[in-house]
Amino acid sequence: MCGIVGYFGNRRADSILLQGLEKLEYRGYDSAGVSILDNDSLKIVKCKGRIKNLRDKLSKNPLNGTIGIGHTRWATHGEPSDLNAHPHTNEKATISVVHNGIIENYIHLKEWLCSHGYNFSTDTDTEVIPNLIDYYYNGSIIEAVIKATQKMEGSYAIGVISSYEPDKIVAVRKDSPLIIGAGKEEAFIASDVTAVLNYTRDVYYLDDKEFAIITKEGVEILSEEGETIEKELSHVTWNAEAAEKGGYKHFMLKEIHEQPKVIRDTMTSRIVLGEDINLDGITISNDEINNINKIYIVACGTAYHAGIVGKYVIEKLAKIPVEVDVASEFRYREPMINENTLMIVISQSGETADTLAALRLAKKNGARVIAITNVMGSTISREANDVFYTWAGPEIAVASTKAYVTQLIAIDTIALYLAKLKNSLSDAEIEEIKEEMLKLPEKAEKILESKEVIQKFAAENYMHKDMFFLGRGLDYAVAMEGSLKLKEISYIHSEAYPGGELKHGPIALIEDGTVVIVLATQEKVFDKMVSNIKEVVTRGGKILAFAPEGHTEIEKSVHSALYIPETLPILYPVISVIPLQLLSYYMATAKGCDVDKPRNLAKSVTVE
Ligand code: G6P
Repeated sequence: MCGIVGYFGNRRADSILLQGLEKLEYRGYDSAGVSILDNDSLKIVKCKGRIKNLRDKLSKNPLNGTIGIGHTRWATHGEPSDLNAHPHTNEKATISVVHNGIIENYIHLKEWLCSHGYNFSTDTDTEVIPNLIDYYYNGSIIEAVIKATQKMEGSYAIGVISSYEPDKIVAVRKDSPLIIGAGKEEAFIASDVTAVLNYTRDVYYLDDKEFAIITKEGVEILSEEGETIEKELSHVTWNAEAAEKGGYKHFMLKEIHEQPKVIRDTMTSRIVLGEDINLDGITISNDEINNINKIYIVACGTAYHAGIVGKYVIEKLAKIPVEVDVASEFRYREPMINENTLMIVISQSGETADTLAALRLAKKNGARVIAITNVMGSTISREANDVFYTWAGPEIAVASTKAYVTQLIAIDTIALYLAKLKNSLSDAEIEEIKEEMLKLPEKAEKILESKEVIQKFAAENYMHKDMFFLGRGLDYAVAMEGSLKLKEISYIHSEAYPGGELKHGPIALIEDGTVVIVLATQEKVFDKMVSNIKEVVTRGGKILAFAPEGHTEIEKSVHSALYIPETLPILYPVISVIPLQLLSYYMATAKGCDVDKPRNLAKSVTVE
């Protein structure tokens, strides 16, 4: 969380930094600030609140200068306030730092620096960094930064400017993302590429403990030992427009509507009728696949919910046992991993700290790791053995939508690939699934056209404080995602339950008018879900149900029903999640919530 940017070139730094921060605001938005070298003197403007507040403040106190750094914050240490906003400086205000991450030993460092005469004025962990750099400064800012990082424990991506050497930005990362954008006679640092896409698509992806020095002459990358590293320049295929709202009121609505396209894009060249599944980025050998006796799927948030769908699908199609875990749990238990374990990590951003730690743990124990991610060059994509890229394009809204459906396509594709190698499905069965997958974009389109039912239900029910989601099997997995989406952006408390568990607790909470969202797409358990519906209705519950087209009998029992175009049972999640995303969107907008930037959340959780 937190977003950092930096600019050095011939243009005014303030406007470029502000634009970059606006693109990164999804990473945190409780305060923001910039630091610019104006005639070689270090100037800082920062304040609590959104980037807009910073923009207003800067318009009253414009900063000249063509070199600077900026930050948008998601508070960890120290409440959101003007004082705790970044950039932070040493006491003499000669060294300025923006930081994304957590310095875990900051208390110890602070005490140590205090014992050497340093004073602190904020509650942040970050303030130790400029002071440590100051302590080590002896005529070379890069040397001082290298020495300071040797003392720092935890995670960091930092940008440093100093009035001692006003001709450069120094940047370094460890366990927090950082890219360097290389333009013509200008360069950038940023937490992710969206911040620089308006200016350049050529980027260097820094690895842990690599230091970048940005000067007028260009970008130099050094190792911890101070040796030059020759790094490959990568070209980003996303364009700047892909990260704009394109006429929609919110990024989330735009991203929901992009789903037919991204489902199609993610299948392109991988799912072709009459041809073997093509998994370009996956080089695992047939022998290795045949030796796999267990798969772990590990992820966080929405990606974890995609993993739960993955368990059902992979076990059904490839007949390999699958265990799904949230990364923050997985990394602190003692999972049974060995060289016959396949680990699939799912991460939209490819930067989630816990998912990355789980990946490292699995690799250390000999497992092979396939990453399903949306961001090329992300840390997870670089550390995994194999990568399946979802072609969702930049996802800006904090609540994930289009990335989730592409993660499901990735899982379905991998499951078919494994099934083919394990001979657990016949060629005809595989072809049938592929054929149905190729029809999903059209079906997603159809659901988007029937959004009035959802809008109406949301308008009538947005004032409720609690809601429940019920489903069985794959519907339960989707119910969990629907419930998460609702609470994330509308702040309505919600819980998802497997239908069969209704009687073991949640039914005690059903009373007159309680809203229950029911998913009933799975033929095998359809009648069971109808029984659950009756149990809820009998107690006064108000139901919005989702059932496959043709199951109109459900209308007799529920308040509202919406029909999902028919597909194979394993494929319903890809399309049945769409009305749930719309439901949370319309509930949140009816309540006047900030849909794209829900309170307390951040898109990319790069700290534990
Ligand atoms: C945060 C985001 C979620 C996302 C989760 C995992 O909680 O708000 O939308 O699902 O992180 O992120 P990842 O990038 O690893 O998929």
